[in-house]
Amino acid sequence: MLRTSLLVCLFLHLALGVIEQPDYVKTCFKNQPGFINCSTHAVQALFNAIPRGEPRIGLDPLDPLKVPKIKILQGGGGPVTVNASLTNVTVLGFGKTQVLYNSVDPVTYDFLTKLRLERLRIDGLYELLGRILVIPLRGKGNCWFDAKNIDIVAKSDVILEKRDGFHFYNVTAIHVKFSIGGLKLHMYNLFDGIKALEDSTNAYLNANWRPVAESLNPILSKTIEDIMIDILRKVFDNIPADYFIGDIED
Ligand SMILES: *[C@@H]1O[C@H](CO)[C@@H](O)[C@H](O)[C@H]1NC(C)=O
Ligand SMILES: *[C@@H]1O[C@H](CO)[C@@H](O)[C@H](O)[C@H]1NC(C)=O
Ligand SMILES: *[C@@H]1O[C@H](CO)[C@@H](O)[C@H](O)[C@H]1NC(C)=O
Ligand SMILES: *[C@@H]1O[C@H](CO)[C@@H](O)[C@H](O)[C@H]1NC(C)=O
Repeated sequence: MLRTSLLVCLFLHLALGVIEQPDYVKTCFKNQPGFINCSTHAVQALFNAIPRGEPRIGLDPLDPLKVPKIKILQGGGGPVTVNASLTNVTVLGFGKTQVLYNSVDPVTYDFLTKLRLERLRIDGLYELLGRILVIPLRGKGNCWFDAKNIDIVAKSDVILEKRDGFHFYNVTAIHVKFSIGGLKLHMYNLFDGIKALEDSTNAYLNANWRPVAESLNPILSKTIEDIMIDILRKVFDNIPADYFIGDIED
């Protein structure tokens, strides 16, 4: 039995109300030919713009993205048993997100988005007690993770709501699947700073990055889902769905 529980705390902002259509929001029509191409380009325009931050909707810059705390607790008989936290987290790379595909279900308006990130770098302070693959791990200190060629498929479940004469997306859930093409990492001060053990453990984890990444995949998927839902809610609470899709039917 795998039990994962995780908490991502981001700075919360109050919704600031409807804004005028920003120039980075391109309207597509779902009943017109080429809708998928149009919406793929539209979501790319959005991903090009919002990482710089958008004060009108209370969105802080996303590249670098600051996350005060990520808690990871996973027990059970899987390849990973960890009790860990990452604090003072900086995530670099969201500004260069490539949008490969976006489609919108014509009935439910749920959307399916395929994204690619060439690089994502995470720096932070970790505290860790647990086991990854066969290695027992214990430590507290600085760490970094550097991943490349990350492919993300995100399915967003939405409810359309009407307010102020507009439709709004209420994002109720995001389901993320992802794969990565490479991972380098370093955790400083493992085992109370026994340097030889720290170095050999980090060398082992780097040499076995693929099973390490696979074993962490459920935890990381949940982390990406929590971060994405927070960002998308901020966007869609304030920017009407009608700005994105010009022919929404009631
Ligand atoms: C896809 O959309 C972009 C942006 O609107 C446009 O420049 C391009 O010609 C379209 N491609 C196709 C195959 O329709
Ligand atoms: C996880 O670690 C924290 C801090 O070290 C501790 O307070 C908590 O009891 C631990 N939880 C479990 C289930 O081991
Ligand atoms: C948090 O990270 C920043 C750099 O991103 C650093 O300047 C600051 O000292 C860190 N805070 C702690 C408590 O380590
Ligand atoms: C979104 O939908 C959920 C489930 O119906 C509801 O509990 C929540 O209040 C809605 N959020 C907003 C901002 O309307």
